[in-house]
Amino acid sequence: MPKIVIMPSLLAADMGRLAEECRRAEAAGADALHMDVMDGHFVPNLSMGPDIVKMAHAAVKIPLDTHLMVTQPQHVCAAFIKAGANPLLIHVEAPCDVRAVLQDIRRHHVRAGLTLNPETPVEAVFPYLDDVDEVLFMSVHPGFGGQSFIPQVLPKVAALRQRLPELDISIDGGINRASTIAAAEHGVNMFVAGTYLFGAPDMRAEIAHMRSAIQNAYGKKV
Ligand code: DX5
Ligand code: ZN
Repeated sequence: MPKIVIMPSLLAADMGRLAEECRRAEAAGADALHMDVMDGHFVPNLSMGPDIVKMAHAAVKIPLDTHLMVTQPQHVCAAFIKAGANPLLIHVEAPCDVRAVLQDIRRHHVRAGLTLNPETPVEAVFPYLDDVDEVLFMSVHPGFGGQSFIPQVLPKVAALRQRLPELDISIDGGINRASTIAAAEHGVNMFVAGTYLFGAPDMRAEIAHMRSAIQNAYGKKV
């Protein structure tokens, strides 16, 4: 199976102590940090900009998996890459030249990712699979943390996993103990978790628990 990657989402961290929270996640065994960038247009919320990515880049050594929920990613990719974002993910629903943006990200020697919303068919990403290193399935409607997992995305995940056994497939939204297992069974190897991990009484124990649950469940329903 592809490498298991567990990514606490900084959106659920204590915003008053962000650098410490980044270090807490790294010390707890996180493989990467997930950074949610929202522009108030693509989603009805605003979150972090390149300076927050820069802060995280200075605070930790793990990769910064940066999720651009923005309408015009081509205008901001360079700033996030300069700040230390890698991988950098855009949405397939963004009204931009998706292939050109993905290729531009890779030209900067940064891993390129493509994200799809819960209601977007998986076929939407098929034309871009040669241009991506990671496909991220949204399992909530993007914009806010703390929502419930939408299980209807799971057959889409399994369809992509069947097609590409080695691709990095991530999932984002409503991840907890139960949805981690369901997602792993359907072929997810990278897990974003905000509320669940930052809210856990012992993040290190919870990440270890996730890792063994994923190992046991992986691929059983592909
Ligand atoms: C939602 C974001 C998610 C969010 C997940 O738009 O893309 O990354 O942080 O939060 P939880 O894990 O709380 O659902
Ligand atoms: Zn996200």
